[in-house]
Amino acid sequence: MSGEKNETEKLQQQVTLLTEQLLRSEKLASLGELAAGVAHEINNPIGYVASNLAVLSEYTDSLTLLVRRMSEQLPIAQSNLLKSQFDYDYICEDLPKLLAQSEEGLYRVIEIIRDLKDFSHLDEDEFVDADIHLGIQSTLNIVANELKYKAEIVKKFADLPLVYCIPSQLNQVFLNLLMNAAQAIESAGVITITTGFDEHWVWVSVADNGSGIAADKLEQIFQPFYTTKQKGQGTGLGLALSRSILEKHRGLIEAKSELGLGSCFIVKIPRHLATAAAAG
Ligand SMILES: Nc1ncnc2c1ncn2[C@@H]1O[C@H](COP(=O)(O)OP(=O)(O)O)[C@@H](O)[C@H]1O
Ligand SMILES: [Mg+2]
Repeated sequence: MSGEKNETEKLQQQVTLLTEQLLRSEKLASLGELAAGVAHEINNPIGYVASNLAVLSEYTDSLTLLVRRMSEQLPIAQSNLLKSQFDYDYICEDLPKLLAQSEEGLYRVIEIIRDLKDFSHLDEDEFVDADIHLGIQSTLNIVANELKYKAEIVKKFADLPLVYCIPSQLNQVFLNLLMNAAQAIESAGVITITTGFDEHWVWVSVADNGSGIAADKLEQIFQPFYTTKQKGQGTGLGLALSRSILEKHRGLIEAKSELGLGSCFIVKIPRHLATAAAAG
């Protein structure tokens, strides 16, 4: 009797979790759409701001030179007086810095928009030949804020071939692994992302020096709803989802871990998926 009640309670809990997850993915999907729309809208003004800035920089050089030449025609005392009245020397020094800074800021915005666009194709499920490193980098940029107080990111990238995959879905896997790694680190850890390949596989590993996982839990972590996190922190679906994404890619996801030392998740994607898929 009480066993039955336990079962019912468990089921109810799972329904609640599933509902939460569903709501969250609904939100994510509409967020994705919104992000793609906003990115598209921002692209146009950013485009002309960027080209204006380049021209402005040329104009500034011209104008400062013109002022200098003209001031040479004046008696030196008068020229110095005018220059100091208008802060000429300071402006000449500061202008290029301001322009460079603005350019830098603008490129940062352009990068963010590109990442948002890459990332927001959440619903796309087409296999394409993709550069995995681009996916990792745009995922990293998306989670940079979450990671920066927790961990230093070390990248050891090989010279990878293109991979036949659904990029947005692999990004989802990288996102899960990076968030898990960060959540396993209490403070000031290191997350190492390594990539490599051989004849059959392209692989990506995400290693952390966080809490680690007990050996007898290493398989359970891939089960849906297995979580050791507090409500709101985790649903226990990240790794299950990641595994199903990799199955779709005829790939693998494996975990190695040592309690107290850290964990390493390895994602393997077949190099010749196109041919493998055709062969059935
Ligand atoms: N890098 C990691 N270090 C330590 N434990 C981990 C790590 N990644 C996953 N885990 C364990 O696996 C569980 C399941 O992970 P996941 O499926 O992503 O769900 P969630 O993160 O929502 O809990 C986590 O709750 C945690 O106990
Ligand atoms: Mg997770």
